[in-house]
Amino acid sequence: MHLDDNNEEFRTDILKGLSNPVQKSIPSKYLYDSKGSHLFEQITVQPEYYPTRTENSILEEYSTKILQNISKEIILIEMGSGSSKKTKHLFDSILKRQDKLYYFPIDISFQFLDSVVTDLETQNQNIRVKGIPNDYINGIKDCNNILFENNFKFDSFSRLIVFFGSSIGNFEIDEARDFLKAVRISMNDKDFLLVGFDMIKDEFLIEPAYNDKAGFTAQFNLNLLDRMNRELGCNFDIHEYVHSAFFNRKKDRIEMHLKSKSDQEFRIAGSDTIFQISQDETIHTESSYKYNEKKIQELAIRSGFSLEKIYSDNNNWFNLVMLKPC
Ligand code: AVI
Repeated sequence: MHLDDNNEEFRTDILKGLSNPVQKSIPSKYLYDSKGSHLFEQITVQPEYYPTRTENSILEEYSTKILQNISKEIILIEMGSGSSKKTKHLFDSILKRQDKLYYFPIDISFQFLDSVVTDLETQNQNIRVKGIPNDYINGIKDCNNILFENNFKFDSFSRLIVFFGSSIGNFEIDEARDFLKAVRISMNDKDFLLVGFDMIKDEFLIEPAYNDKAGFTAQFNLNLLDRMNRELGCNFDIHEYVHSAFFNRKKDRIEMHLKSKSDQEFRIAGSDTIFQISQDETIHTESSYKYNEKKIQELAIRSGFSLEKIYSDNNNWFNLVMLKPC
């Protein structure tokens, strides 16, 4: 089996994660192959998955207010744009203030990006879209280079960088700080960063969101084994694993795992190791940290931002937080 560079990195990460004697794990970014990305879109419309619709309702209600503190013309950059559905509220509000909008959606999923760019440009002549197929930090650098090459004067506009969906919660706390610090480096003092945070709440509300009745989250999680079989020549018996997701109150995070139904073995092509997994032992596949205002405030300060304003729904289930470099 021939592996390209991306698959080589995938393989190295998997070997490392599955060799951990304390807790087997796989980095959550590998959940998002083409099938995983489509399954995630299905998750976001499940009745139990409150984050997407709650964040959307905040944007629907406050998008004009959110922009009030920005006096300059806005250039919009979105990290992890996906289908760009929620961002439409911002487009409408921005286009009430200025004639044209330059929008840079950054997404690692090339296919998604292509269809979003075509749809948006045909729907609205006043939006100029340049899709950036890259990771978030390099994607912001790409945007800055494009603006520079096209002679945009950096002091005549504000970049509004948005990071929706509570994806910040999928980073470990220190990783979230390092990530925001790296974003901060590419910003200047006229720019703004708008981030969605899912808030700590009772587990009877959070856990169903990761255990939807229709089973999309389970398929999303199990797809990882299928992906490893296809791309890395593994031999996981998918029917011998179950999806498990629970709220870890000590760490304020949802943990998603794949639990083995029996004592079994598996291999990864090209490695001589035979991995053993016991009945009920798990592979940790994702963490989704939940925040409160104090934690958000701490994260902002530690990454070089001041917290300008928080926009919330009536239940305070979700916060959209406006940050400014300081
Ligand atoms: C992308 N991210 C914010 C989702 C979350 O809620 O942590 C990923 C997800 N995993 C299972 N359901 C949704």
